[in-house]
Amino acid sequence: MAVGKKSIHGEWSSRWAFIMAATGSAVGLGNIWRFSYMVGEHGGAAFILVYLLCIAVVGVPVMMSEIMLGRRGRMSPINTMQSLAEEIGARRAWRMLGWVGVIAGFLILSFYSVVGGWSLAYVPLSASGAFAGADADAVSETFEGLLASPGLLVLWHTVFLAFTVFVVSRGVEGGLEKAVRILMPALVALLLVMVGYGMASEGFAESVSFLFAPDFSAMRMESVLVALGQAFFTLSLGMGAIMVYGSYLSSRSSVPGNTGLIAGADTLIAVLAGLAVFPVLFAVGLDPEEAGPGLVFVTLSAGFGQMPAGALFGTLFFVLLSFAAWTSAISIIEPATAYLVENRDWSRGVAAVAVGAAAWLLGIGSALSFNLWADWQVAGMTFMGLMEFVSTTVLLPLGGLFIAVFAGWILPRRISQQELAFGSEVSYLVWRLVMRYFVPVAVAVILVYGLVDVLG
Ligand code: PHE
Repeated sequence: MAVGKKSIHGEWSSRWAFIMAATGSAVGLGNIWRFSYMVGEHGGAAFILVYLLCIAVVGVPVMMSEIMLGRRGRMSPINTMQSLAEEIGARRAWRMLGWVGVIAGFLILSFYSVVGGWSLAYVPLSASGAFAGADADAVSETFEGLLASPGLLVLWHTVFLAFTVFVVSRGVEGGLEKAVRILMPALVALLLVMVGYGMASEGFAESVSFLFAPDFSAMRMESVLVALGQAFFTLSLGMGAIMVYGSYLSSRSSVPGNTGLIAGADTLIAVLAGLAVFPVLFAVGLDPEEAGPGLVFVTLSAGFGQMPAGALFGTLFFVLLSFAAWTSAISIIEPATAYLVENRDWSRGVAAVAVGAAAWLLGIGSALSFNLWADWQVAGMTFMGLMEFVSTTVLLPLGGLFIAVFAGWILPRRISQQELAFGSEVSYLVWRLVMRYFVPVAVAVILVYGLVDVLG
């Protein structure tokens, strides 16, 4: 396939459009909701350190590979892998990598949309002043009330998915760039305000030691695996989302440069979220380990309840969080949608509705796992817990492992060298060594030991 070829789905209008869209994909519930709750559950600083290490030595090189493969293949991940395999005379079975991604995407979207629905539900709740002056018990009760209602959860889940399908059906370039360009800086600004508020609160000292003084003695292999999965999740890696966005990127744009910006922005936002959330959590006396998936919703609404102009800040925050979730969800269904357009000749609209409907149905299970089906558990996980575990903690690292093997071992050196265009031979060699040896071995070891720890 000639360099310079374009995707049939179109191309980003500029390098910035790609960076904005990919950052929109990366920054989402993963940075704020999932990051905080995983940090809480897995003991704080030691987990954060492992997570940051995973971002730097696994996430960043894998992201370069995904963008590179997508840009070279110029199609949905399934067809990109197939056409690259054909081009270089490798096995057609490499298309399975695309399929694993599509399946992971379905599972992720199904619960992502339920949590996106919580965020939407919190917009009118905050605006109505429901949290003004409320203590930790009262805000917990409000959250429990939402979880106890299958009707409300399904309603907001539906609204969230409908928004997502709507945008995807119109093609991803359209309004996305503009939305992200305004919303992302607004989110950072608001997080900074909340960090400032957190620093002034009485929980600050406790949160500093929780977030920055690592205690590795409590660190289990399971937590290392969860940190690795979270690194993939937060950077949208391992399932083809960044690959499909890469397929719309012009051949002239620098892959390593773009990757640095996207990963940097994503990590900054997660760290800011941690600094904003944990001081308030300790100040209101919540237990990070007990909080579970409700951690940010309960903690932040308690914080807003006490803050001057809290109803305003709270409403704004949940609006921005919903937008961030939305721009991520769009990228989660893009690989499957693009595939259906390519292979079934469906229009984008029909394809997006079909993919959204399937994820919607599966998501009902997650919505019900907080109420009617709460007792249905596998290995201590509810339906939603299981979806999260299988997709994020198992499938994403597995996808990353195969991407590393393909990019490092199967793809001829001349192609990766030309596509990545590092500008320095040493940087390229480092990338190649990391892809060939470090990532496959590290991910495989962590996956095996982590799974043994979880299941054993
Ligand atoms: N990166 C997104 C977030 O942090 C979630 C996501 C995962 C998006 C996988 C695309 C693919 O919220």
